[in-house]
Amino acid sequence: VSVFRRGRLGERFDLDAAAYTSSLDFDREILRATIWVNAVHLKLLCEKGALGSEELEKALKALRRLEENPPEKIDPRLEDVHGLIEKVASEASEKAGGMLAYGKSRNDAVAAAIRIRARERLLQLTLQQLQLIEALLKKALEHVETIFPAYTHLQRAAPATFGFILHGHAQRLLRNAENAETLLNRINLSPMGAAAVVGTSAPIDRLREAELLGFDGVLENALDATTSRDFLLMMLAHLFDSATSLSNLAEEMVVYSSSEFGLIELPDEFSSTSSVMPQKKNPVVAEIARTKSAEVLGELVKAAVILTRLPGGYSLDLQQVTPKLWNAVDELERSFKVMAKMVPSLRVRAEEARKACLPPVGMAEAANLLVKNFGLNFRKAHQLCALIARLMLENELDEPSFQKTLSGFGLGNKLTLREFLEWMEPERIVASYSTLGSSNPREVERMVNRDLKRVGELRMRCSERLTKFEELYCSALNL
Ligand code: ARG
Repeated sequence: VSVFRRGRLGERFDLDAAAYTSSLDFDREILRATIWVNAVHLKLLCEKGALGSEELEKALKALRRLEENPPEKIDPRLEDVHGLIEKVASEASEKAGGMLAYGKSRNDAVAAAIRIRARERLLQLTLQQLQLIEALLKKALEHVETIFPAYTHLQRAAPATFGFILHGHAQRLLRNAENAETLLNRINLSPMGAAAVVGTSAPIDRLREAELLGFDGVLENALDATTSRDFLLMMLAHLFDSATSLSNLAEEMVVYSSSEFGLIELPDEFSSTSSVMPQKKNPVVAEIARTKSAEVLGELVKAAVILTRLPGGYSLDLQQVTPKLWNAVDELERSFKVMAKMVPSLRVRAEEARKACLPPVGMAEAANLLVKNFGLNFRKAHQLCALIARLMLENELDEPSFQKTLSGFGLGNKLTLREFLEWMEPERIVASYSTLGSSNPREVERMVNRDLKRVGELRMRCSERLTKFEELYCSALNL
């Protein structure tokens, strides 16, 4: 069955051994990219006079048909997509099929196909990530004024706004997304023409081949070009980075929507209930999104462990790395998609959120005002406010106890309790934040609008690259 076996080995390949070693199942992911690589290779051979144009046409036609109608079940004794392609091309033109491995090996071809598919999936994933980021930013814009507590140690820390919290997540996810472009520089290099391991005497123009496949350059050393999968590790690490950002966002949704916090309401369409306890509303989408980071990390670890302790030059171990990447991309893409769908119908329970910002939350800003208005040093002001917070929490704060506390710091009768409590209105506090990047509504508005622009620009760049790749693919296949 296999076109490669004749000669050196008996033609029979044990079926279990074939199924065990075949990559055909997950090669579906790189079918199109591998067809592209083979089409370009044949074209270049034709340009060099090593293949007639009629034979080329026949082979290209067969490859186009294969792409449109990939067989459902493939005999594992064909080994992989490369075996399949050579078989299909040979059936259309024996000469063309027979020339596929002239100056090209499965080793450089598969490395190229993985890079081609990886860059495409990375760009598509980034576009999906941008959908989520945009949803967060738009929601943030709706809520630049909505008072919401910020936490540290998961304890109420300071009054902020819901828009500010959401923008924080969006900023982090956008930083992840922008990294995709740097990563692309690492991925988008051509191993083609490296052949099996040392290069080849066949008439191969590596630079031209790289250009026709949409690569930005070549990976020069043939040995490294065929063996290295570091770009997969980098990409998996990148996916893990984004998955972690997503996980932290999801965790906050779970926490804020719990009855204990009660600060947000997740949409019913994205929640489930209990089969036993009918009062319950479970944040299941957020829970699954929260845990995807673990699944992505699992794929990263698997890939990393396979890649250690390998010698130079292709080994079949390498084949097992690639599906880990596709799994991780699948998981993350689905997560971005469903979260982007859920975010627009998130509801804030504004009254509860504001309540969670009432005194003594915001004491740090009261201390700041004592510094500004009465020249106390901050530590003294902090101590004074700590005593007031304690009175508040013990329900013992009234005008006399307040004045008594002030007197201890030489401020007796300089301020009424009412004035002090007015200082602590959450709206006033939030409006008083004056630093770059604070949760002051005007600042959040500025950041969100700027980031919406960054989203639009990155989306444009990703789409343009995808379109360019698509055009190159079509011209390689004469579509
Ligand atoms: N199926 C292989 C992979 O995915 C293709 C390369 C096989 N090369 C070889 N020399 N057996 O990596």
